[in-house]
Amino acid sequence: MNQEDKKKLFTPFQLGGILLPNRIIMASMTRGRATNAALVPTDLHTAYYAQRASAGLILSESVWVSKNAIGFPNLPGIFTTEQTEAWKKVTNAVHQENGRIFLQLAHIGAVSHPDYFNGELPLGPSAINPQEKSFTPEGFKDTVTPRAYTIEQIRETIEDYHRAAINAKAAGFDGLELHAQLFTLIPQFLSTATNQRTDEYGGSITNRSRILFEILDVLIKVFPGKKVAVKFTPAAFNPGIIRPDENTIADYEYLLHKLNEYDIAFLEIVGPAVTLADTPVASWDDQYYSFFRNNYKGVIVANLGFNYDSGNKIIAEGLADLVSFATPFIANPDLVNRFAHALPLAVADQTTYYMGGEKGFTDYPKATDPK
Ligand SMILES: Cc1cc2nc3c(=O)[nH]c(=O)nc-3n(C[C@H](O)[C@H](O)[C@H](O)COP(=O)(O)O)c2cc1C
Repeated sequence: MNQEDKKKLFTPFQLGGILLPNRIIMASMTRGRATNAALVPTDLHTAYYAQRASAGLILSESVWVSKNAIGFPNLPGIFTTEQTEAWKKVTNAVHQENGRIFLQLAHIGAVSHPDYFNGELPLGPSAINPQEKSFTPEGFKDTVTPRAYTIEQIRETIEDYHRAAINAKAAGFDGLELHAQLFTLIPQFLSTATNQRTDEYGGSITNRSRILFEILDVLIKVFPGKKVAVKFTPAAFNPGIIRPDENTIADYEYLLHKLNEYDIAFLEIVGPAVTLADTPVASWDDQYYSFFRNNYKGVIVANLGFNYDSGNKIIAEGLADLVSFATPFIANPDLVNRFAHALPLAVADQTTYYMGGEKGFTDYPKATDPK
């Protein structure tokens, strides 16, 4: 790589109407700090995001679109006025630091648990147990067989996303990221293992992805002009039954071609964590990002395990436009400055990833802070 290619992450990027000063995106991270019954973001959230405002763009932690979406302890929501008001403090603080922030909309679907719903079963595309672990307030439990969504309940869920988007706009977010990864609601609909519906939401990929595009339609109505992103983990081998199968590559060809018609901000594509040889998506091995580049015409954000050098490289190779970093942002609020000056990176304490207060959340110093 020439000297210029070694600094690609520092080339500004025009994302629709938003100018990103660099291509270092902070990926979404659940941190379990909304430790209040109303699931309202706190002053700690405001401090945490403001500390990281030098990222080209911040993608917020997963935020619940409704009460029915919940399925992990202490994640904030964006479905009440109180939550929306509290998020205003976060967006104001990030903007005051000259940053930009998208809200990630999340719904866990059938991987929730009756413990969150006074004993009532969660909803899923079909009455099929996803065979995952549900993270309940009492710890991990086996998932249950959900109730199958009625068409009416699907419409209500789409309306929940719509209202959440309206709230996010009122709260001052610059855009949205739709969480469509791992074993959550949208992948549950995309997967033939968990979706065996015989109506217009099941069967062909056109039908299995209908809910995704109907959600995107309502989100783009609220945030038009390249302000809605989608995050996919196409090669995630979850512990349960939602995994890449013989449909996956053709399914993604369909999704990407259809997404070409949508005025969205970007697709964040999480890379494979394991070798794909001997899996149903073996042909993605070694040419994963070129598959997405060749089939999708819009902006691609690459994610998973990148560092400064590999991030510059994938942009220089033309396989991605932007790169997102999750774990490195936990202990390095000034990750951008550390990359710029080749400063050593601090390592985060994993025991405080998903719970706790200030410790392991807002108390990581910048490299330039006095000792
Ligand atoms: C503590 C933690 C929480 C995470 N929470 C979310 C989340 O809420 N939403 C999401 O899309 N991804 C989440 N992820 C995944 C990251 O966004 C990212 O895809 C993954 O960590 C790979 O990027 P990295 O190698 O730079 O860490 C989380 C990752 C970590 C480490």
